[in-house]
Amino acid sequence: MGYELRTERELSLDFLRVCEAAAIAAARTMGQGDRKYSDQVAVEAMREVMDTVPMRGRIVIGEGERDEAPMLYIGEEVGGRSASEEVRASFPEVDIAVDPLEGTNLCALGANNAIAVLAAAERGGLLNAPDIYMDKIVVGPSCRGSVNIEAPVKENLKNIARRLGRDIEDLTVITLERSRHKKLIDDVRAAGARIRLISDGDLSAGISAAVAGTNIHALMGIGGAPEGVITAAAMKCLNGEIQAKLVFDPERLGVDRDKVPAQEEVLARLREMGITDPDKVYDTNDLAPGKKIIFAATGVTDGALLRGVRFFGSGKRTHSLVMTTDSHHIRFVDTVHVEGGPDAVIRF
Ligand code: FBP
Repeated sequence: MGYELRTERELSLDFLRVCEAAAIAAARTMGQGDRKYSDQVAVEAMREVMDTVPMRGRIVIGEGERDEAPMLYIGEEVGGRSASEEVRASFPEVDIAVDPLEGTNLCALGANNAIAVLAAAERGGLLNAPDIYMDKIVVGPSCRGSVNIEAPVKENLKNIARRLGRDIEDLTVITLERSRHKKLIDDVRAAGARIRLISDGDLSAGISAAVAGTNIHALMGIGGAPEGVITAAAMKCLNGEIQAKLVFDPERLGVDRDKVPAQEEVLARLREMGITDPDKVYDTNDLAPGKKIIFAATGVTDGALLRGVRFFGSGKRTHSLVMTTDSHHIRFVDTVHVEGGPDAVIRF
């Protein structure tokens, strides 16, 4: 059974709860310097609430393969746990890509832009991407159709500038600060654009690039492929664009050959996942082909678009982004989770 518009609306609120729970759990560990622990609590909280959602959910992008992740592993069935078999059979089938804590280091250090995030779609609506690197270019609605991941950086910047009615010097490109990006950074600088180098979190950075007013005009560079799929889901909701290519050549990644799986091993794994052309350029629809996409994210630490979780005497407050393609809503949700009983004071 697929899901209807009404179901999409209900599910989007359910997924909001799921992200809020993960963000609250992770935010409690902010600044403790233990990224693995921050991730673990986010995973546990996300999974616990996910199981209360009335759906037949399947994790397509998660914490890893079944043998390496105890929960939210690829292929895990989630949702509708307390329902009888008969009732569960009536629930919609949903594919889900999760990143319970994007920016584990950011949370561990109390730095900006850590989020809890997921994307969901009807069965087959999200690419089962391998957990390897992906080269990406992400732009907003006004620049859709103007970039080509295989073109020189300067040409893309020229086209983005033209679409935005400004000079290249007025553009800001966001990219992960990694040695593999030396040439990219040199090229952006040589073209005259400004750069924001970030230590982690290219998913939330990609979303900023697609939202006007953030003063970020493009995301460029190599990050995780799973993050690329979730970014694509967000682009479908925001009318933005992502183009991407898988990367596993150690030279392009700037790492020693013995530090990454052998090329042959990766190619075999890709074939197993149905990817026969490793050089394919993926567009937004290849990565997130779903017609009914739901995207939800909650800020863990303060960020460009979302505030981090705030704790106070009588509860906590979360700030989230929930988007849908079918009903096409972009909701910024400010939730007060009241805990203080009848005398709790709620602030504006
Ligand atoms: P985590 O949330 O797993 O810590 O990943 C953060 C991140 O910065 C992603 O946003 C990005 O896609 C990826 O790591 C980049 O990988 P690497 O740190 O290996 O360059």
